Formats: sequence, C-alpha cells, structure tokens
Amino acid sequence: MTTVQAKIDPFLDLTAEIQRLKKERNAVILAHYYQDGEIQDLADFVGDSLDLSRKAAATDADVIVFCGVRFMGEVAKIVSPDKTVLLPDMTAGCSLEDSCPPEEFRKFREARPDHIAVTYINCSADVKAQSDIIVTSSNAEAILAQLPPDQKIIFAPDRHLGSYLAGKTGRDMALWQGSCIVHEQFSERELIKLKTRHPNAKVAAHPECPEAMLRHADHVGSTRSILEYVTADEGQEFIIATEPGIIHQMRKDAPHKTFIGAPGADGTCDCARCPFMAKNTLEKLYLCLRDMTPAVEMPEELRQAALKPLQRMLDMSKSVNAHSLAGA
Ligand code: 13P
Ligand code: SF4
Repeated sequence: MTTVQAKIDPFLDLTAEIQRLKKERNAVILAHYYQDGEIQDLADFVGDSLDLSRKAAATDADVIVFCGVRFMGEVAKIVSPDKTVLLPDMTAGCSLEDSCPPEEFRKFREARPDHIAVTYINCSADVKAQSDIIVTSSNAEAILAQLPPDQKIIFAPDRHLGSYLAGKTGRDMALWQGSCIVHEQFSERELIKLKTRHPNAKVAAHPECPEAMLRHADHVGSTRSILEYVTADEGQEFIIATEPGIIHQMRKDAPHKTFIGAPGADGTCDCARCPFMAKNTLEKLYLCLRDMTPAVEMPEELRQAALKPLQRMLDMSKSVNAHSLAGA
C-alpha cells in the first residue's frame, strides 16, 4: 500500500467524495487529454493546453484543480491569480521544461539580441517571463503569421515543434534543442511495420514527434485537433502518435472507430505514457481537494512578468476556435 492510499479510508467512494468536495469548495476540475480516463471522466472540462488556459482565465470558481502537469497549473495561477490553484501532484514536471533552464535560456537570448522569443507553453514560469510571446501547438502557426516576415525568432524549448513550424511557415528560427521524452520514443521503423499490418489506417501525430514520424502523418496537430480530425474524418482506423491518454476521448466520441497507439522501439505503445501526467491519481485528486494542498504559488513579480507573453498569446489567438470542451 502506498503512503497516499494509506491515508484514505479504503471504503470511501472516491468519485462521490470528489464530487461532494468540488461543490463544497466551489471548485472546477480541469484535465488534460493525457490524464487517465477516470480523471478525464470526473473533470468539468477536458482539453488541450490552449483550451485549458482559456478556461482557467474565464472560470468563476474559487478553486481550480488542475489535472495536468506543473507548468499547466502555473499558467492557471498566472492568468487567475485570485483563485486557489491545486495540483494533485506538484512533482508532475515535464521534460521540455527540464530541458530549458532559465539561466541557459537567458544566455541563448542574450546571444541573439535582434531576435524575439516565441516560446512553447511547456516551460517554467521563469522562462515565460523572459519570453515575448507564448504559443501552444494549436495557435503557434496563427501567431507566427501575425509577426513581420523579417522578424528573427528564437523558438524554445521543443526542437521538433520548432522545426515543424519552420517548415510550415518558411521562417528561419533559432531553435532551442529540447524535446519531449514521450514523443521522442516513437519509432518510425515500427510505425512502418504497423502500417503494413493496417493498410487502411490513417496516422494522426502531435508536432512534438520527430520529423521522421511526421513524414507518415495524414494529420498533424495539437491533441484537440487530433481528436477533432479522427472524429470528423471518414476513416475507420487510426494510428495515434501522441500520448495514449487521448484515446479515451476518441473512444467516447467515435466508439465505432478503431484507435491504435503508435509503437515505440520495442513495437508497443507502452513507452508513450507520460510519466509526469501519470503522477496524478484519483486518490491524489481527492486528497488535494480535501486538504486544499498542494497549491501553486509564485512571487507576484514573476507572475506579472510571465503574464505579459501569455496575455499576448491569448490576444493573438482569438481567431483560433474555442473548442466545444468535452465534459464529464
Ligand atoms: P497540447 O494538448 O496543447 O497539444 O499539448 C500536448 C502536450 O504535450 C502537453 O504537455
Ligand atoms: Fe511534457 Fe511530453 Fe509529458 Fe507533454 S507529454 S507533459 S511535453 S513530457
């Protein structure tokens, strides 16, 4: 029995208790598509990084419980400072955030004084505070299109998303060399083998995947965009090259279709679970609502500095459709 489970009455109906506490605290539960299905089903809103930032900014709840990773909870606190923002597990980090230490990023910027920093939302509040505009995978192209064509750009921290965007927009970008440990695991070789066994399957991939994977994709986009693609497309079978938590929503939205997780080097998709997202459990969700901890806190000066590029993102991506968010 883990320490967390040891603190909980084994006869407690966790789902009912979470619902009860949610009402008592006037809380809203936001969940990313990479969360376990049971957490997605309990959430008030499930979405991609942009949808969730927008929801966090707009909610009138007193408490936001963010079932995602730490940088997402930080974004919620930055845009909604008067709310209590709880994270079931404060140690839920992100390899992209880890790949971009603020001091190294500062040096990278200082070496390129004529560049602006367009930074992927998967980074620390400190790196956000040093950036000019934040983007997500669903609004990056729309935001880049609004910048002057000759503007020099630093893109951090995901080199795969950066080179995908450079290819799509024709822009010359100085890329930070970070990557996501989850998307990095997918194997082109195994994907080709899988496609020969499923010749009618279409491939939907997240742009955090290496270029070798994206070459085989029928659709590339954010988690929300992948979900919308597989639901609307006439195809019946799809290979999904992103974290397989999203397959839960796909099966709910299109139960008659078949979804196969893209394989890693050993031919399975097991390696594609995000170990950081997986830190959140139903037990921890219950405990954080019961005890109102751990809560995201940050110095006000840092919050205000990080808000500027995030607010620019929200303002510059008004043309990117608001999603009809999946609920419980
Ligand atoms: P999106 O949900 O914005 O596509 O991001 C994926 C991701 O890696 C979140 O950590
Ligand atoms: Fe970070 Fe990758 Fe996990 Fe997303 S899937 S939270 S980018 S490690």
